[in-house]
Amino acid sequence: MSVAEEIVALRERVLGDIAAAETTAQLEEVRVAVLGKKGSLTGYLRSMGQIPPEERATVGKTVNQAHQEVEAALEARKTALAAAELEASISASAVDVTLPGRVQQLGTRHLINRIADEIAEIFLGLGYSIANGPEVETEYYNFNALNAPEDHPSRGLADTFYVVDRSDDAHVHVKGESSVLLRTQTSPVQARVMEAQKPPIYIISPGKVYRRDVADPSHLPQFHQIEGLVVDEGITFGDLKGTLEYVCKQIFGEERKTRFRAHYFPFTEPSAEVDVSCGICHGEGCRFCKGTGWLEILGCGMVDPNVYGYAGIDPEKYSGFAFGMGVERIACLKYNVPDLRMLVEGDMRFLRQF
Ligand code: DAH
Repeated sequence: MSVAEEIVALRERVLGDIAAAETTAQLEEVRVAVLGKKGSLTGYLRSMGQIPPEERATVGKTVNQAHQEVEAALEARKTALAAAELEASISASAVDVTLPGRVQQLGTRHLINRIADEIAEIFLGLGYSIANGPEVETEYYNFNALNAPEDHPSRGLADTFYVVDRSDDAHVHVKGESSVLLRTQTSPVQARVMEAQKPPIYIISPGKVYRRDVADPSHLPQFHQIEGLVVDEGITFGDLKGTLEYVCKQIFGEERKTRFRAHYFPFTEPSAEVDVSCGICHGEGCRFCKGTGWLEILGCGMVDPNVYGYAGIDPEKYSGFAFGMGVERIACLKYNVPDLRMLVEGDMRFLRQF
C-alpha cells in the first residue's frame, strides 16, 4: 500500500470513529488520537520531509485533504453532540407541571386551648374579665394567702415542685412563705386580684398548673385550670349555683344535669364539688362514670372570710364565691375521651378529630 493509500484508509477509519462517537467526551478522545501531538494524522503531516520528492505532491495533497475533512467532521459532530447533551440536561431537570401538588398541612387550635377559649367566652358573656398570674409562684400566694394550713399535705415536696435557689445554699433551703414553687392551682390569682383591686370583682383566670403526679389516665404533671372569683355586695350561694349551672349547660349541653356535693377547700366556706351527669350512660351508671352516673367537674364555694383578711377586704360588707375547673378534664368529659394523656401525646390521628 502506498503512503497516499494509507492516508486514505486512515481518513475512512477516522470519519467512521467520528460518526460513532456518542458523547462530546468520546469525540474528544477521537480528536486527540488523530490530531493530537502524537496523533495518527499528525504523524503523516510531520513526516512529509521523509517522503521521496516524486511522491511528495500527491501525499501532501492527500494528507491536507484528509486533515481538512477530519477537522470539518469533528466540528460538525461536536456541534450536534453538544446540542443533544444540552437538550438532555434540560429535559432531565425539567419541572413536570402535570404532577399533583403537595397539600400544605394546616394546623388547628389544640383541643385544650379551644375548650379553654370556649369557657372563657361564656364568662366574658356574663361580664367577667380575665386576670393573669405567674406560673412560678411563691408559697405565700399558692397556699398561705388561701388559708391553707401549715401542715396541708399538698405543701409537701412530694406533691409540689419547689424551685430551689442555687445562689444560696440549696441544701439548707428552708421552706417558708417566700419559697418559690410552680403553682399547683390557679387559685393564687384570687389572692393577687383581691390585693390589687377593690370589689366589685368578676374575673376568671385560665392558666397552667403543675403537680408532682405521674401521668396516668386521670392525672398529668402539668395541666390547665380556669379559676373564677366574684366579690361584690350581697353575693349568695344562690348566685354561685345559678352561675355554675348556667355555665355547665353552656359547656356540655342543655340536657346535662348538674349536682352540688358538699366538700372542703381551705379557701371557701361552705365548699362544694360540682358533678355533671354522665354523657355516655346519661345517669344509668357505666364504666366511664365508674357506675355513679356522675362526673366531677369542678370545685367551688363561698370565699372564706380569712381569705378576705389577707387581702384587706371587709367581709362584713362584701361576700363572694370562687371556683376552679380542670380544662383537660372538661375536654375529656365533653368528648368522652377515656385518658387525659391522649391530649398531650401529639397523635395527629386523635387530635385532628376536634
Ligand atoms: N384550687 C382547687 C384545686 O386545684 C380548685 C378549686 C376549688 C378552686 C374550690 C376554687 C374553689 O376557687 O373555690 O383543686
